[in-house]
Amino acid sequence: MKKIIVTPWEVKGELEKLDYTKLIKKFGTKPLTQDLLEKLKKITGELHLFLRRGVFFSHRDFDWILDKYNVGEKFCLYTGRGPSGVVHLGHLIPWMFTKWLQDKFDVELYFQLTDDEKFLVKDLSLDQTLSFSFNNVLDIIACELAPEKTHIFIDTQYTKTLYKLALRIAKHLTFSTVKAVFGFKPSDNIGIIFFPAMQIAPCFLPSILKGKLVPCLIPASIDQDPYWRPARDVAPRLGFYKPAQIHSRFLPGLGRGGKMSASEPETAIFVTDSLEVVERKILNAFDGGQPTLREQKEKGGNPDICLIYQYFYFLFEPNDKKIENLKSDCKNGKLVCGECKQKLATKVKEFLAGYQQRREKAKNIVDKFILKD
Ligand code: TRP
Repeated sequence: MKKIIVTPWEVKGELEKLDYTKLIKKFGTKPLTQDLLEKLKKITGELHLFLRRGVFFSHRDFDWILDKYNVGEKFCLYTGRGPSGVVHLGHLIPWMFTKWLQDKFDVELYFQLTDDEKFLVKDLSLDQTLSFSFNNVLDIIACELAPEKTHIFIDTQYTKTLYKLALRIAKHLTFSTVKAVFGFKPSDNIGIIFFPAMQIAPCFLPSILKGKLVPCLIPASIDQDPYWRPARDVAPRLGFYKPAQIHSRFLPGLGRGGKMSASEPETAIFVTDSLEVVERKILNAFDGGQPTLREQKEKGGNPDICLIYQYFYFLFEPNDKKIENLKSDCKNGKLVCGECKQKLATKVKEFLAGYQQRREKAKNIVDKFILKD
C-alpha cells in the first residue's frame, strides 16, 4: 500500500483509506464529540452540515472557546490560503464553515494570504503569488463573509504589523523545534524555516490590534495543524492565549484516490470552471456502480466507495432523509449512476452559478475587506 502523506505542503496517497481517528492520535488533537456538538448547538441553535456529517471532526480547545463565549468573551476567527493558483471546491469547505461561524457568533475574521510561503515553496515569482492573492481575495469574498467583520491581508503587503509580530514569535522558536515539527532538511531554503512565524502571527494579531487579549479560533483542514503546535507553545511566553482549532478532513477528488488537487485538473472542480466543464467532470467521475446496467439493477451500487455519493453526503444533500433515500436507492439498484451523476451535476452547477456571480460582484467591494497598515 502506498504511504499516505499529510503535511502542510503535501497531502497525497490513497486518502479514502485515511483513518481520521488515527490522525487525531498522531497529531495529538481531540475528537469533536457529541457532547461538544450539543454544547455548540445550545448557542447556535442548529449544527452545520459539516458538523452533522463529520467533515469537521477534530479540535483543540474548542470547548474553551465556547466557555469563553458563554461568559461574554468573544473570540476572533483566523484562517488562510496559500495563493498558488485557482481555488477548487475542496478549498471552500473551511471557508464556508468559517462564514457559518461568523454569522452564528457574530465575530470578526482575519484571513491570511501567504504569498511569501508559496513563493518560497513553489516555482513561482513574487509577482505571480501576489497576483494569485488578489484573485483569491475574490474567491474569499464570494463566500459571503461580512465586509465589516472580515479582514483580509496579504503577507508581503501587510508587513509592517505582521513582520514585527513574526519576529517576536521567531525569537522563541528554535531551529530544532521547527525541524522536528515540519521535517525541515539542511537543503531547505532559510525563508521557509522562518515562515512558520509568519503563519503563527495572525493567531495573536486580534489581540495586538484591539489592545486586549482576544481568544482565537482557527477553522482549517487538518494538514495545517503542525503550525498550531509551536503557536500554542509560544503563546504563553508572549502573554497571549493559546489559539484554538477546529479541523476538517479533505474533500476527495473526482478520480480514484487522493484529495481534490489543483495538480489533477480533471478530478477537481475549480470555482472558475465553466458549467459545461463541471458537468463533464462529474459525468466522468469515479462511481460505485456495476460495469453494466443489468448488474447495477441486480446487485445495486456501492455508495461507500462512490465519489458522487460522497459529494452529496458532504456538500450537496443537506437533508438527512433524502441522503438516506439516495443511499438505499443506490444499494438496491433503483438509482443508476448516470442519473445520479446528472442530479449532482445540476446541484453543483446551481451552486457555482451563484458563486461565480458573487465573485464577479466582489471586484467592486475588495477595498472593504483589505486590512492595511
Ligand atoms: N499555509 C496555508 C496554505 O498553504 C495558508 C494559511 C495561512 C492558512 N494561514 C492559515 C490555512 C490559517 C489555514 C489557517 O494553504
